[in-house]
Amino acid sequence: MASSLNSLVNDDSRYQKSFKLFLERSSEHQCMLDFIHNLLPDILASIGDRKSHLNVIGVGSGAGEIDLEMLSELRLKHPGVTVDNEVVEPSGQQLHNYRVLVSQKPGLDHIKFNWNKMTATEFEEQWKVKKMTKKADFIHMIQMLYYVKDPGATISFFQSLLDKNGKLLIILVSGKSGFGKLWRTFRNQLCHTELSQCVTTSDIKSFLDSKGVKYQSYELPSQLDITDCFTEGDEKGELLLDFLTEVLDFSKTASPELKAGVMELLRHPDCSVESNGKIMFNNNLGVIVLDQLT
Ligand SMILES: C[S@@+](CC[C@H](N)C(=O)[O-])C[C@H]1O[C@@H](n2cnc3c(N)ncnc32)[C@H](O)[C@@H]1O
Repeated sequence: MASSLNSLVNDDSRYQKSFKLFLERSSEHQCMLDFIHNLLPDILASIGDRKSHLNVIGVGSGAGEIDLEMLSELRLKHPGVTVDNEVVEPSGQQLHNYRVLVSQKPGLDHIKFNWNKMTATEFEEQWKVKKMTKKADFIHMIQMLYYVKDPGATISFFQSLLDKNGKLLIILVSGKSGFGKLWRTFRNQLCHTELSQCVTTSDIKSFLDSKGVKYQSYELPSQLDITDCFTEGDEKGELLLDFLTEVLDFSKTASPELKAGVMELLRHPDCSVESNGKIMFNNNLGVIVLDQLT
């Protein structure tokens, strides 16, 4: 049964506002940067098969902060290469922010950015209509597979674009995170199967295991300060609640029973730890790395 509540991703302006607040209140980007600097270099070292030109695709890139950091690591591992970077991002606001970031950052002359203001599914359709034969050396989908109708099919399509030694990097919330617990408990009430899937890396691993697809995986510890969610009527708390539940105006539109159940679970020790008057939600991330299908 799908949720009758409106999905947050339907309202790009509120979605981007709540995502921005989520980034301010969590260690999400810091833990991604740690991964990019410590573990990603070895993953990137093997791509490219000694080519002088690399094709990269970023799906759901947001404002590009994380993408540009990965492109810097790529440059360090493959000095002298030129890069074609397809950016696939449906939010006009985020695409604009990404372009501004690129215009302000020096040292990106070796990269050609192709801006695709569209969803992953639209990109896939366009790729097929144009009968594209281009292959990619590095594809990443970071915190975005929640917003496609069929995450498994989307992974299979993008994996099929990988060149020899290419890598597909997926980052989502870990199945063992607070999000995993929250979404497993209230999936039917919160999740829109057309729009947002409440998927975690556990779901993706089950899918890949069922297909016999091999992958590497990593867990990244991260926390989110959700203290404000417990102050009735607090504007920021309500924005964060929207992001946690993926529901637009959750506080105003959810039934009292659902709201009470979610609020109780959010501060339950399965999801959060309380210390120094703060409630810190387990925002652990999972990373999955796929090779070209053989
Ligand atoms: C949680 S943000 C992550 C942004 C960025 N990857 C990061 O980690 O900072 C999710 C991004 O996916 C984008 N998005 C939403 N639906 C999408 C879709 N169907 N296909 C591709 N991207 C989508 C959103 O606009 C947003 O920029």
